[in-house]
Amino acid sequence: MKNIRVGIIGATGYTALEVARLLQGHGNASVVTATSRAHAGEALSTVHPSLSGRCDVTIETFSAERFSEKCDIAMCCLPHGASAETVQQLVQHGVRVIDFSADFRLSDVDIYQHWYEVQHPWPERVGSTAYGMPEFFADEIRTADIVANPGCYPTSAILPLAPLLEAGLIEADDIIIDSKSGVSGAGRGAKVATLYCETNEAISAYAVGCHRHQPEIDDIVQRVSGKSIQCLFTPHLTPMDRGILSTIYVRPTSDKLEEIMQCWQEKFNHSAFVHPVSHLPSTKHVAGTNHVQMTARAAGSRAILVCAIDNLAKGASGAAVQNMNVMFGLEQNTGLI
Ligand SMILES: NC(=O)c1ccc[n+]([C@@H]2O[C@H](COP(=O)([O-])OP(=O)(O)OC[C@H]3O[C@@H](n4cnc5c(N)ncnc54)[C@H](OP(=O)(O)O)[C@@H]3O)[C@@H](O)[C@H]2O)c1
Repeated sequence: MKNIRVGIIGATGYTALEVARLLQGHGNASVVTATSRAHAGEALSTVHPSLSGRCDVTIETFSAERFSEKCDIAMCCLPHGASAETVQQLVQHGVRVIDFSADFRLSDVDIYQHWYEVQHPWPERVGSTAYGMPEFFADEIRTADIVANPGCYPTSAILPLAPLLEAGLIEADDIIIDSKSGVSGAGRGAKVATLYCETNEAISAYAVGCHRHQPEIDDIVQRVSGKSIQCLFTPHLTPMDRGILSTIYVRPTSDKLEEIMQCWQEKFNHSAFVHPVSHLPSTKHVAGTNHVQMTARAAGSRAILVCAIDNLAKGASGAAVQNMNVMFGLEQNTGLI
């Protein structure tokens, strides 16, 4: 297997740093270029000192033509809106892309434009990309030119919910997802809401009833399970650097809780990363890794599912490396163990 040449776009952000960090130990892939609007000409390790001595690329301005000469794959770590235009240029230059933004995740461009309040620059490609969750879509990912890397919160909800809906073990019309995220989920850009004094010693809900990950959860769960859902999803910001814990209230169709665990065990039997566990998962159990832990408890007429991931790993950059591995015919866990 030849070395996979990876280019990172939006290299100054948190997900870009995590991709660069993960690829240092990959063995079959390396970062050959990285781009930023503001830091061209500087070493990537100047912007991210933790990469010193480990990743010696110099940051450039973006050029799709240069990417087509230098790279086998682009990791596009840009915000939504800005990302779609860049992905379009890359694909038109023959570069395969993993897009970290939400620009190509949804099936329906009208739903995207409604929730994200922007015009999509390349509407004809919405709904014709691979959703980057190899646990369900590995065949599509293998040959895709665009892989839409999943959102962090959706990852923590879709993985536990979709198999249970597919198996008819929970009701589709009564699902409440209560999620907590570390502050890196909001990116590295300066914002008042993520300042130390706003987040330290505090926990708060935000985007109640209107978070953009809600339609993504509904859409992808339906694609996997064939069941139409409209979940209630409430995210919270917590004073951690990284990690997501989702607590999900569902109505089981039988009183046999063990059927839920059994369903997950069968579905994720061959998964390197998704682990049904008997203990209550914590973000600490998966921090810095691509692993997912999930469990279920009975509570009256409901079951409560608890799922922990690392938002920067399985919620973003770890999933991207897992997807890249699938796209290039490697074992999914190459460089991620
Ligand atoms: N953070 C997470 O946990 C997480 C999880 C899943 C998915 N995501 C998604 O992954 C993407 C990157 O997230 P992040 O947390 O790494 O964000 P970030 O830390 O804010 O970094 C974003 C990068 O994009 C560049 N950028 C910002 N606005 C731009 C624009 N208008 N045009 C071109 N470049 C622009 C910035 O670079 P310069 O200003 O230096 O050019 C910056 O390096 C986002 O779409 C996000 O929604 C993030």
